[in-house]
Amino acid sequence: MKFPNNFLWGAATSSHQVEGGNVNDWSEWKKGDAGRACDHYHRFEQDFDLAKSLGHNAHHFSIEWSRIEPKEGKINQNEIEHYRQVIRALRQRGLEPFVTLWHFTLPTWLAKKGGWLNPKAPYYFDRYVKIIAENLFNEVKFWITINEPNVYALNSYLRDVWPPQKKSAAKYLKVLKNLVKAHQLAYRALRLVDLDCQVGVAKNQTFFEGNLLLKYPANYFHNQYFLERIKNSQDFIGLNYYFHNRIKGFKFNHNSNEEFSDLGWEIYPEGIYRVLKDLKKYNKPIYITENGLADKDDAKREKFIKEHLTWIWRAIQEKIDVRGYFHWSLLDNFEWDKGFWPRFGLIEVDYQTMARKIRPSAKIYARICKENQLFAP
Ligand code: FCB
Repeated sequence: MKFPNNFLWGAATSSHQVEGGNVNDWSEWKKGDAGRACDHYHRFEQDFDLAKSLGHNAHHFSIEWSRIEPKEGKINQNEIEHYRQVIRALRQRGLEPFVTLWHFTLPTWLAKKGGWLNPKAPYYFDRYVKIIAENLFNEVKFWITINEPNVYALNSYLRDVWPPQKKSAAKYLKVLKNLVKAHQLAYRALRLVDLDCQVGVAKNQTFFEGNLLLKYPANYFHNQYFLERIKNSQDFIGLNYYFHNRIKGFKFNHNSNEEFSDLGWEIYPEGIYRVLKDLKKYNKPIYITENGLADKDDAKREKFIKEHLTWIWRAIQEKIDVRGYFHWSLLDNFEWDKGFWPRFGLIEVDYQTMARKIRPSAKIYARICKENQLFAP
């Protein structure tokens, strides 16, 4: 299985889940304070040494808006410099940075103003993105504006499980619309500052099958709604793949669950191929910006990675332009409403001592990364 020569290999994290010490709408929420998390804010250099030793040539992470703009309109230049150091540390190690500008957490001042429900939210986001772009444009080539807008809107406004827990279909749609607007403004801002940069979103796509009556609306709102609206303002598509959903009768999630992760999520590698086939219609390069599983004992991760890569490889043989794979996650981290128990890391973290330990599956993935780069230009 040989991947294209320029293929990017790496892993992903997000600010609130790994940095530690963040003050935002999640840290204010009952189950959302990640405390020290992995202390990655202070240990990024060692963590990137490990990523490099594992053969990665790219890394996907996010900038924490609440650090950059902790008070409305007040920019913390020291934090911009922090992320400049993060990006440079990646480059020094030969890792291409993929930088996400918003991964689920809001500055508290914006949360108090209604968060993404506020019609001005896309303009606040645009103002933040412009500041980042003006400061860091010559350091970054690949930008991701928003992480999983559909999952955020679903969990925060339809399912009541994430802050601000405002369950309402009307609000769900309003938030999605504002996120579309936010992406479009950010796309324009980034490309205006640097014509050569590449801008996309990280989009969670689910492979739905079964009863058409439910499949069509689910597919439309979860998979198509956002991408349809931004299809002319993106240079690539970031794909986050975790879920297969078989609909039987009028019940969702009628999966056979032959294999599943510690979170009970079904492992269904073929689904990544199915969603890739569907994304072909947008005619853009695709990067797998997240894909992984909670597996504390590391019993299933090796097989998981190999099988997903095999299906991705097959998609590439069928002329789908996939250009990179970022495993979720580089490190064990804070898994939102679930807390710290799910272990997604290629690298295990001891939260008492903050010691890092490379899991066996990470070494297998490293071999795949390294072998594929043998012929890289
Ligand atoms: C994705 C999120 C990421 C992580 C994984 C497990 O939906 O983008 O932050 O929580 O799920």
